[in-house]
Amino acid sequence: MMDWTTRDYRAFARTLTKRALLYTEMVTTGAILHGTPRERFLGYSEVEHPLALQLGGSDAGELAECTAIAEAWGYDEVNLNVGCPSDRVQNNMIGACLMGYPEKVAEAVRAMQAAVSIPVTVKCRIGIDDQDEDADLERFIAIVADAGCEVFTVHARKAWLQGLSPKQNRDVPPLNYPRVHRLKQSRPELHIGINGGIKTLAECQAQLTHVDSVMVGREAYQNPWLLAGVDEQLFGEQGPAASRWMPQLHSGRIFSSAWMKARS
Ligand SMILES: Cc1cc2nc3c(=O)[nH]c(=O)nc-3n(C[C@H](O)[C@H](O)[C@H](O)COP(=O)(O)O)c2cc1C
Repeated sequence: MMDWTTRDYRAFARTLTKRALLYTEMVTTGAILHGTPRERFLGYSEVEHPLALQLGGSDAGELAECTAIAEAWGYDEVNLNVGCPSDRVQNNMIGACLMGYPEKVAEAVRAMQAAVSIPVTVKCRIGIDDQDEDADLERFIAIVADAGCEVFTVHARKAWLQGLSPKQNRDVPPLNYPRVHRLKQSRPELHIGINGGIKTLAECQAQLTHVDSVMVGREAYQNPWLLAGVDEQLFGEQGPAASRWMPQLHSGRIFSSAWMKARS
């Protein structure tokens, strides 16, 4: 999430869960190819693994080049953003508007996969504007899956590209979880993840009876303690966080407010 899942946040999240896959903020191909220093856009610390780099872009050649760079930097996965509705990215043919151009996404995915051996995945919506949530989503997934994408995370609401702000596009269009569940039923061979409005591990567990994975956005940032239960409750493993009030002090700046509370 832009400005939220920064490397500081991700390092903090790793003190709470070893198993959750963490995603970077969306980084555009332009930033990677022309921005300096590259460390500013791609830098991370080793503790953050497993870590996916999310790319924003639409030019297949540039996306392939950036995916190869991501692999060389040691990222575990590259995820293509086909869900962001902001005007700024639409003008550059990035994000949710690409749902209207499945062949372009397929071409990009094919080029990205040819460039690397790490997984190339896609995050999308159930549709945009007046697209048909059934036929058009099925068609989008079919075309992109044909290009070799096996993992999709679907934000279970449409994006309205005209008239709604990015913030409204995260709340106003209604959530349609059953649509994502039906997608998994119709394409059982694909890994289908669900995203949108999920706030508790009990909700994650319920979703996991329908789909392969759950992506939690805002709640993981606004209530990071949620992450402390992930390893045990979702993966059946002991997590790294023993107690909320006895933080490890290897990162004093991040933990300072919790530490003050612990002492008071
Ligand atoms: C501040 C902010 C920044 C976001 N940036 C991104 C982004 O860079 N890439 C992306 O795929 N989604 C981004 N999102 C959307 C979330 O990933 C997620 O799809 C959305 O918030 C719905 O899930 P949630 O209800 O679990 O938060 C962002 C959301 C917020 C609140």
